[in-house]
Amino acid sequence: MTTIAHTPTPHTLAALTTRRARALTEPLLREAVSRLEPWMALISSYHLGWCRADGSPAESDSGKAVRPALALLAAEAVGAPAEAALPGAAAVELVHNFSLIHDDIMDGDEERRRRPTAWKEYGVPGAILAGDALQVLAFDVLLAGGGPLGQVAAGHLTLALRELVDGQARDIQFAARPWSGPGTVTVAEYRAMAMGKTGALLAGASAIGAVLGGADEPLARTLAEAGGQLGLAFQCVDDILGIWGDPAVTGKPVRGDLRERKKSLPVIAALAASESAADQLADLLADRQSVGDEGAAEGGSETALLKAADLIEECGGRRACEREAELALARAHDLLDLVPMPAEVRAQYTALADSCVARVT
Ligand code: IPE
Ligand code: IPE
Ligand code: MG
Ligand code: MG
Repeated sequence: MTTIAHTPTPHTLAALTTRRARALTEPLLREAVSRLEPWMALISSYHLGWCRADGSPAESDSGKAVRPALALLAAEAVGAPAEAALPGAAAVELVHNFSLIHDDIMDGDEERRRRPTAWKEYGVPGAILAGDALQVLAFDVLLAGGGPLGQVAAGHLTLALRELVDGQARDIQFAARPWSGPGTVTVAEYRAMAMGKTGALLAGASAIGAVLGGADEPLARTLAEAGGQLGLAFQCVDDILGIWGDPAVTGKPVRGDLRERKKSLPVIAALAASESAADQLADLLADRQSVGDEGAAEGGSETALLKAADLIEECGGRRACEREAELALARAHDLLDLVPMPAEVRAQYTALADSCVARVT
C-alpha cells in the first residue's frame, strides 16, 4: 500500500504559521484593547477588523500577523514554547497597528484592509489618539506579561519604535526632494529609510521573541538582523504592490503610491536609469496636474498614472525592486542558517520568510 505524505507546501505552511499567530495573540489583543477608554477601544477595534464603524461585531481583515508570527517562531527557534513570546507577539502587533493608523493619516490614504481607514471613519484627532493608545498599550502588555525578561524585551521594542519613527521621518522628507538632478533620492537612502520604517519592527519582533524565549544577546541579534532583512524585502514588495497590486487583493487604493507621488523604490531605481524614459518619468511625476490629486480632479489622472507605471517598468524600476527584495531575502536566509533550531521550526521560519516576498497582499 502506498502512503501519501501530507507535507504542507511552503505556501500552506506560511499561512498556517500566521494563522496560528493570529489565533494565539488575538485573545490577548482583545483583552488589552477592551481596557482602553471606550472611544479609543472602538476606533482600535474597528481598525483591527473586529467591529463595524458603529461598534457592531464584524469579522473583517485584521492583517496578516507577520510580526507576531516572527516573534513566536523566534522563541521556538531558541528552544522555548511559542507561548513564552505571547506578550511580545501581542506588543509588536499593537505597535504595528499604531504605525498603520498614523501612517494612513500621513499618507492621506482612505482605504486599508478593504475598508475606510480609521481617520476617514472617525476623524484625524480620534485616529491620532487611538494610535497613541495602542502604542502605550503595547508596552503595558509586554511589561505586565513578559515576566523578568519583559524589561529586556521592552528595550528592544523601544529601539524598534525609535528606528520606525526615524524611517517614517525620512520617508516623509523624501516628498520634498527633486525628481532629477542633484538631491535626487538614492537607492542607499531608500534602503536606510525602509530598514527603519519596516525593517525595525520585524527585527524587533524577532529579538523580542528570542529574548522572551531565553536567548542570549548574540543569538537575539542574529535573529533580529534576519528580521530586519525580511523587513526590507517586505517593504520592496509593498512598493511593487503599491503600483501594480490589485486593489481587490491588497485592500489598498489602486496605484496609491503613484497617486501620492511617493518616492518608492521602483520609482527611485527608474529615475536613476540612463534612458530617455527616465527623463519622461521625472517630468510626468513632477507635473502635479497630471499625476496626483489635482490630476484626479481634472479627470486626467488615470491615464497619466498608467503611463508613469509603464515608464517605471520600461526603465527597469520594477525589476530592480524585485531584485532588491530577492537579495534581502537571501541575506535573511543566510542569517537564519547560522542559528541552530529544530527542523520543524526552521521549515516554518523559511516558509514565513519566503512569504514576505512571494505575496500579493
Ligand atoms: C503594511 O504592513 C505596512 C508595511 C510595513 C509595508 P502589513 O502588510 O504587514 O499589514 P497588515 O497588518 O498585513 O495589514
Ligand atoms: C509602511 O508604510 C511603514 C509603516 C506604516 C510604519 P507604507 O506607507 O509604505 O505602507 P502602506 O503601503 O501604507 O501599508
Ligand atoms: Mg502608507
Ligand atoms: Mg507611509
